[in-house]
Amino acid sequence: MKLTLSILKADVGSIGGHTRPSQEMMDVVKEAAAAAVADGLLIDAFVSHTGDDIAILMSHLRGVDSPDVHQFAWNSFIKATGVASRHGLYGAGQDLLVDAPSGNIRGAGPAVAELEFDHEPTNNPNRPAESFMMFAADKCGPGAYNLPLFLGFADPMYCAGLMLPKMIKGFTFRIIDMNNTRGDSIIELNAPEDYYHLTSLLRDNERFGIDTIASRATGDEAAAVSTQRLHNIAGTYTGKDDPVALIRNQGIFPAPEELLSPFAKAHYVGGDARGSHVMPLMPVALNTPVTGIYCLPLVSCVGFSVDPEGRFSDSHVDFFENEAWDEVRAKAQRKAFAMRDQGWSGAAMLPYSELEYSGFRDTVEGLERRFSFRDSNGRYPVGEGAPSEARAS
Ligand code: 13P
Ligand code: MG
Ligand code: MG
Repeated sequence: MKLTLSILKADVGSIGGHTRPSQEMMDVVKEAAAAAVADGLLIDAFVSHTGDDIAILMSHLRGVDSPDVHQFAWNSFIKATGVASRHGLYGAGQDLLVDAPSGNIRGAGPAVAELEFDHEPTNNPNRPAESFMMFAADKCGPGAYNLPLFLGFADPMYCAGLMLPKMIKGFTFRIIDMNNTRGDSIIELNAPEDYYHLTSLLRDNERFGIDTIASRATGDEAAAVSTQRLHNIAGTYTGKDDPVALIRNQGIFPAPEELLSPFAKAHYVGGDARGSHVMPLMPVALNTPVTGIYCLPLVSCVGFSVDPEGRFSDSHVDFFENEAWDEVRAKAQRKAFAMRDQGWSGAAMLPYSELEYSGFRDTVEGLERRFSFRDSNGRYPVGEGAPSEARAS
């Protein structure tokens, strides 16, 4: 059968500020998911949150961009928005950027990542068992996975499996230019031979993001990332992109440890407070609220297996919950303190073009109107006035 894994994620309200959704919000989404499984729309579903974002993970036979599946997720987010509004929670409906989208909801606000593949574990030698990981990140920009996924799929320093016959042909990266708002503008680059071209693009986490990664040996898609820019959709600041990703692992794909080890860097990403800072990405357990000193961008990762009918294993493994990651969390905080020491200066905040709060830009634009040219005699030309006079206007 052709099985599809879909994750749709949205921030539709949170308690005490932008921390986490309320229990009642989670409950209504879980009830809706259980009903969709009972009705046969979905094979299975799993609802969680990372920071203030609710993620609905689903398995089904309806393919990528299925209007029915997307509408189900949208309606579930609307229900949670209703709870958030009734209880006066912060940012109710924040990521639902359009009124009642029809069909699939890509571009309507929620983050979407989907993988469709042949699921015949009993007679597919490439995938005798299907296992995958779900990543969700909060308080960070769209390219937060660029570095760790590049290292996990293209660098034998992190993924020794690349030296094995099953993976030695490498992987194809499809990269999206998020600045092109006319549509999905995609380039395909192959690791290893396009290594330096890949890094030339992936270094820019705000403009270029990984869309999908596929095995060059079999053509199978290994990874899908929700790569979009909320402010490009909404035209104004609405919250940070907070990307999600689905990654199949083992066999013809990297193993969990190879995919996870790059996250030990706690690398700096754009996001954090007001979506406008640069701070380290801290790996956390699923369902962790944002309570860190000056936020701290968070990433969670859980693993599932899939049975021959497409159902998720009865339990999941929470990779970052383990104490093995405590040292990385401490490192993330040390890196955060170092960056916060310089407050608003230079590298601590995103450059002007990337400031997510349009209010920051309004402040600078207001000041730009007050600049005057000074001539070589130190005078301000008649009519332009001195900077001090401009202040009055
Ligand atoms: P979210 O996108 O997670 O709502 O974060 C918004 C923000 O501005 C944090 O300071
Ligand atoms: Mg929020
Ligand atoms: Mg969020």
